[in-house]
Amino acid sequence: MEMKEKNQDEFEKYKLEVAESVSAVQKKISEEKDNRKLVDFDSYPSEELKAEVIEVVKESIDVQDVGAVGLSVPPAHISGDFALEVFDLAKKLGEKPNVLAKKIADRINERELELIKDASVAGAFVNVETQKETLYRDILAKVLELGERYGESDINAGKVAVIDYSAPNIAKPIGVGHLRSTIIGQALVNLYHETGYSVIKDNHLGDWGTQFGSLIYAYKEWGDEKKIEENPIRELKNLYIKFHAFSEEHPEVKDNARELFTRLEKKDPELVALWKRFRDLSLKDFERVYRQLGIEFDTNIGESYFTEQTDKLVDECMASGLCRKDEASEAVVVDQMGEIPSFLLRKQDGSSLYLSRDLATLQFRVNTFKPNAILYVVGNEQDLNFKQLFALGKRAEYLPDEVETKHIGFGMVLRDGKKMSTRKGTLIELEDLLSQSVEKSKEILLKKNSDADPQELDKVAEIVGIGAIIYNDLRQSRVKNISFDWDKMLDLEGGSAVYLQYSYVRINSILRKLTETYGEIDLSTLEKGEIFFESKSEFGLAKKLMMFPETILRSQQSDSPHQLCVYLEELALLFNSFYNEVSLLRTEDTKLRESRVALCEGVALVIKKGLSLLSIKVPEKM
Ligand code: ARG
Repeated sequence: MEMKEKNQDEFEKYKLEVAESVSAVQKKISEEKDNRKLVDFDSYPSEELKAEVIEVVKESIDVQDVGAVGLSVPPAHISGDFALEVFDLAKKLGEKPNVLAKKIADRINERELELIKDASVAGAFVNVETQKETLYRDILAKVLELGERYGESDINAGKVAVIDYSAPNIAKPIGVGHLRSTIIGQALVNLYHETGYSVIKDNHLGDWGTQFGSLIYAYKEWGDEKKIEENPIRELKNLYIKFHAFSEEHPEVKDNARELFTRLEKKDPELVALWKRFRDLSLKDFERVYRQLGIEFDTNIGESYFTEQTDKLVDECMASGLCRKDEASEAVVVDQMGEIPSFLLRKQDGSSLYLSRDLATLQFRVNTFKPNAILYVVGNEQDLNFKQLFALGKRAEYLPDEVETKHIGFGMVLRDGKKMSTRKGTLIELEDLLSQSVEKSKEILLKKNSDADPQELDKVAEIVGIGAIIYNDLRQSRVKNISFDWDKMLDLEGGSAVYLQYSYVRINSILRKLTETYGEIDLSTLEKGEIFFESKSEFGLAKKLMMFPETILRSQQSDSPHQLCVYLEELALLFNSFYNEVSLLRTEDTKLRESRVALCEGVALVIKKGLSLLSIKVPEKM
């Protein structure tokens, strides 16, 4: 009896811990809402330029609401700094695109404008020539003024997002599938925060379910305390694999496992104690990987916390006719809803399910955090599950219309073209993958610089190795399957984090050389009016810098960090051609040189900032 109380207390204690982390998050959110000062998106040169365009468009067609305008950078053979496409607007006005384009261009040419010089028409496009000097100065001044905050904006100020990511299953090593969720989720956390959201980083641990029945069964049969001491996760994983192999031959043990899970759900003290122990051991193990990836969650609540609410919710759904007890099996079923096939909400033995725990989680998040958006960063294969969850949540009114829920799906990680699985033991363990990447990075760095200081080398190899894994994931389209190709991941010529890191380091070394030759340059004294440029590539580079805040916003709005990667690679490419075209070290004219220094600083800053939004670090030297 005494023992029983103690262990029940253990579950209660765990719930208290959760409650504490929840109030800490609530406090963080409300403080951020009150005190965070964000950069006004409209103050960016790109937006000032667009505002000028909108003003002229309004004048030329005498319409007040022209909506947002998009300026794109035209291909090199077309003259003009930006192109304005009028297709949609023409459609809205019932006018021929080329006629509308001409009206706008004519109006631009009539007017004296601050940022726009003149315009010409090419089909449905208005090609805009800017007042390059002025725009160039505005861009560099903005980048230098804001420094590491350049790119931040207030577009989503005051909004709250819960981002559910990583979410590994305890008693198993984190695999590469969960690595994808972790990497993509963290990039979205950064992007959402950067555009004004307050973000709750929620690690929804898989710490409940029938598999704990299997694990407990295996532990009782074959568990070896000594091995568990030595390497808990490996041993737990082996037990799990052993159970599955054994149950193929002896299917009856699956019933034993199910029964054990039912007992766990009823909070059988002995089983709760075992479960808690597996959970603690696992979390400690996961923390190691999270530390290496530079990730810290706000909460690690997990499914277990919600099991107790599921009964109430299922009963409520039943009362409102959203589900029913199946006569034959006694399980609770939700019937087909339109396109969405029917599914179970409670098992026949009365246990909760992944989906019912998610339903309780959803209700909890809505009530506790009052979010505007909830993102579930989980593999594509769970697409149907989330459709079912969101549909039921809406019908049961746990999910109000104004809360946006999104399943952020992603493809699998393939090994030799095939899917990996814990059960079959073909999973690459994450820690092995990370250390392999760091090792390979070290080899490459050594090839470039064979007498690097060993300690320094280790530090840089860590940054490059971890960056390679993260970038390889994010640069590809999210929904596709990915694989690890070391040559590509560590390619110094492009398409990799190390290419960007290397570009950053290179700019810094140029800046150092410039300082050695010409002395320190105090950029803060560089007034707007003192910035000059000479070549086309300089202006091209500045234009690219101008697009950074907008790129961040688009990546956030489309939930695709991939867009930011494309931008960064284009920026680095432009820098490299500028570097080849212009001799920085031999720029004799002081003003021009200082302006070029400002431009280089700006590029370095944006590369560093862009990578940091992907949670990738940069070394100062390599
Ligand atoms: N632990 C789950 C899995 O590995 C992912 C959980 C995702 N989050 C959620 N709310 N369902 O499949």
